Parts: sequence; structure tokens; C-alpha cells
Amino acid sequence: MTEIELRVNGSLRTVATQPDRSLLAVLREDLRLTGTKYGCGEGECGSCTVLLDGEAVRSCQVSVSEVGSRSVTTVEGLAKDGRLNPVQQAFVELGSFQCGYCTPGMVVRATALLRSNPMPSREEIRRGLEGNLCRCCGYAGILRAIERAVELAQGARRDL
Ligand code: FES
Ligand code: FES
Repeated sequence: MTEIELRVNGSLRTVATQPDRSLLAVLREDLRLTGTKYGCGEGECGSCTVLLDGEAVRSCQVSVSEVGSRSVTTVEGLAKDGRLNPVQQAFVELGSFQCGYCTPGMVVRATALLRSNPMPSREEIRRGLEGNLCRCCGYAGILRAIERAVELAQGARRDL
């Protein structure tokens, strides 16, 4: 066991863990941040997506010892001062989920996409999210939610 310090959702957390465990396992099992989902465990589905210094990564493919000083943001860390971010709000407003299992990963990846490209075309959204799978095949609703998030972010000039 090693003690590892992680900056998660703005707070410094210390975990005693085997260094080769995945960031996903540590987030869910040690830090109880269960919004980040375990889907395939093999880097194929995107349900475990989190931000590392703002970049969307698959947390099942990152060992906790690799994180270093980078900031981890999970779906729980996207809301600010109790307000959902525009992507979260759009998913809720439009009910763009069925079982919801893929939703946190979709929301996190879409947030990263809109931060780098605030006005994406439908095709750019499709391409930006193509590595995130929805087993319920709710892609049309997901696409609509992200387009709605663009409107919310632009209209209210809200941070993502
Ligand atoms: S659980 Fe990480 S990509 Fe599927
Ligand atoms: S809503 Fe069920 S996996 Fe996407």
C-alpha cells in the first residue's frame, strides 16, 4: 500500500492504495464518487470518463499513481455553487437518458468538447462523442441535449 494524494473536484484527498489500481476504482470504491461508472473496464465504452486537467480520459485506463498533480474532475464536480452546468441541465431538461448508465461519461465528455469548441456543429458533436457508447441507443436524445447545452451556455453566458 502507498499513500497517494489526489486533487479531486477541487479538494485534496489522500488514499492508501496499491499504486496500480485504476483511477476509476479509487474514485468509486475509496472516495465513494460513484457517479463515474464502470462499464467495460477495457477502455471501450467511455462510461468512466473524467477530466484530468480538463482533458477527457477513461479512468479505467489510468492507474491512480499516474495522476500525479493533475486535477481530477468527475461528474459530481461539474456543478458550481449548487447549480448544474449547462450540459447537466440540458440532459435533465430534455430527459436525455434511459437507464442513465452512460450519462455521466457523456456529460463529462460533452463538457470537455464544449469548453474547447463552444459552438460545435452536429457533426462535430457526433465525432466528439463517438467513443462513448450508449447501450440503450439513446443517441438522438443525447445529441439534442448537447445542442441544448450550447444554447444554455451561450444564452446565459454560463461557465461549463
Ligand atoms: S469502463 Fe472505462 S472505457 Fe468502459
Ligand atoms: S441511457 Fe442507458 S446506456 Fe445510455
